[in-house]
Amino acid sequence: MISKILVPVDGSSHADLAAEKAVEIAEKFNARVTFYHVIFPPSRYMVVDIPPDFFQNLLDEMEKQGQNLLARYVEKYQGRVSVSSLIDFGHPADMICRRAEEDKYDMIVIGTRGLGAIKGYLLGSVSDRVSHHARVSVLIVK
Ligand SMILES: Nc1ncnc2c1ncn2[C@@H]1O[C@H](COP(=O)(O)OP(=O)(O)O)[C@@H](O)[C@H]1O
Ligand SMILES: [Mg+2]
Repeated sequence: MISKILVPVDGSSHADLAAEKAVEIAEKFNARVTFYHVIFPPSRYMVVDIPPDFFQNLLDEMEKQGQNLLARYVEKYQGRVSVSSLIDFGHPADMICRRAEEDKYDMIVIGTRGLGAIKGYLLGSVSDRVSHHARVSVLIVK
């Protein structure tokens, strides 16, 4: 039984492919798709002498961009399947694994690569880590 599918997205074309595949699966199983974005916050200790609001403004801007990204997926697919979206702050791979387990998703559908494509590697660091550490099934879309 597949009723909840988690689709981590980062704005890459690989994530778009994963989203499309997840929606196709969801249509067959009448499952719900959650588009999920994780913001990796830069360390506030890396920069000295910054204005007090700088760090919070940066996080707010990152969150706004993340929400815009998720809204695009929701808009695109809400007519086909039941969709929702979710945003978190933290280490992307760890958050994806934790969310999937805690919120009892049946499956994670993720892209092979992302925005940080380094030539020669088949898997990105997030998809590699998720495939090894997630406690739910992972579909890596190629
Ligand atoms: N910050 C993130 N939030 C949610 N999903 C992500 C994030 N980063 C990557 N992903 C997911 O992981 C897939 C692989 O990306 P990644 O492992 O980061 O590759 P790369 O090293 O090429 O950037 C993406 O297609 C996307 O599905
Ligand atoms: Mg990446």
